[in-house]
Amino acid sequence: MHYTNIDFNKKTILITGGAGFIGSNLAFYFQDNFPESNIIIFDCFRSEETFSNGNLKSFGHYKNLIGFKGEIICGNLNNTNDLERLLDFNFDFIFHQAAISDTRVYDQEIIMKTNVNTFYDILDLTKKNNATLIYASSAATYGSMPSPQTVGYEKPENPYGYSKYAMDQIANKFYNENQNLRIIGLKYFNVYGPREFYKNSTASMVIQLGHQILQGKAPRLFEGSDKILRDFIYIEDVIQGNIKACNAKQSGVYNIGTGKPRSFQDIADILQKELGTNLETEYFANPFDGYQMHTQAEISDSMDDLGFEANYELEDGIKAYISEIKRIYEEEIK
Ligand SMILES: NC(=O)c1ccc[n+]([C@@H]2O[C@H](COP(=O)([O-])OP(=O)(O)OC[C@H]3O[C@@H](n4cnc5c(N)ncnc54)[C@H](O)[C@@H]3O)[C@@H](O)[C@H]2O)c1
Repeated sequence: MHYTNIDFNKKTILITGGAGFIGSNLAFYFQDNFPESNIIIFDCFRSEETFSNGNLKSFGHYKNLIGFKGEIICGNLNNTNDLERLLDFNFDFIFHQAAISDTRVYDQEIIMKTNVNTFYDILDLTKKNNATLIYASSAATYGSMPSPQTVGYEKPENPYGYSKYAMDQIANKFYNENQNLRIIGLKYFNVYGPREFYKNSTASMVIQLGHQILQGKAPRLFEGSDKILRDFIYIEDVIQGNIKACNAKQSGVYNIGTGKPRSFQDIADILQKELGTNLETEYFANPFDGYQMHTQAEISDSMDDLGFEANYELEDGIKAYISEIKRIYEEEIK
């Protein structure tokens, strides 16, 4: 599937965070559709270190890259020597996905260093290579701003959301000072789809509930889950957004969501339908402060400027994903 008329064959493409969920899907998009593209992945993969919340410090996993034929650099954004390896290349496109992606890490110093300080290095590399930069921002920049969340009206409520908000400010200043460069930030809403499994407990509720149901357990949801609505977006639409962003006429920040909020209860119900089960739902109290209760991307600018519009409604995304949810269950859990 080609989402633009850009021919990425013979182009040199950097994907930071390429061993993670979205980055690895991008890598396979280019490999499958532009076999002569030169793809370089930069990712620190995972160590055994955890944050105080018990989650791994990074989620990159080799299994996301089995079959990938491009180049791989195991490097940490926070390590200058590792970043220097990138100076050997001349990138045409940079997709910057690497980050602490866990919204429940509260160590502000490590988040700001990893997500924000290193963004200056990525911007410098973009300028040096005269590359097009597409970077991952987030709907977490909106906190509990009312729906539909609109670019320019952010109020982050956790360190992660703030780090992405800071990246947007830095990018804005940088592209205003470097008008020849094309720099696009994409505020992804709640992404789900293949290759998210190795994000463990930070993976989407689609795979987590899918696996609970496959285990014959009642899907477990927060109380009031029929009234907690999010804009869930399927990975293929996120890839579409990244590719279309390469054609943007001007730099900017855009929402990547469906524009159609759905409830967590809907996810459980659609999964039960797809899996042919009829289990009772089990409800428990939501332990989290600052939980986003309603997100809905305002997507008119993404449509007008990028030609982006989601192709997958929640039903379509889960249907496309279900065989992979089952495969992972068979191979990794059962
Ligand atoms: N998945 C979502 O729903 C979602 C929503 C909004 C924004 N985002 C953003 O999209 C991007 C990709 O997210 P994802 O869901 O693929 O998460 P992910 O955790 O699977 O991918 C991030 C990758 O970055 C790597 N990484 C982390 N720290 C690094 C470091 N210091 N040096 C080098 N590599 C490092 C990890 O190993 C991992 O492979 C992230 O920037 C994330 O914040 C994701």
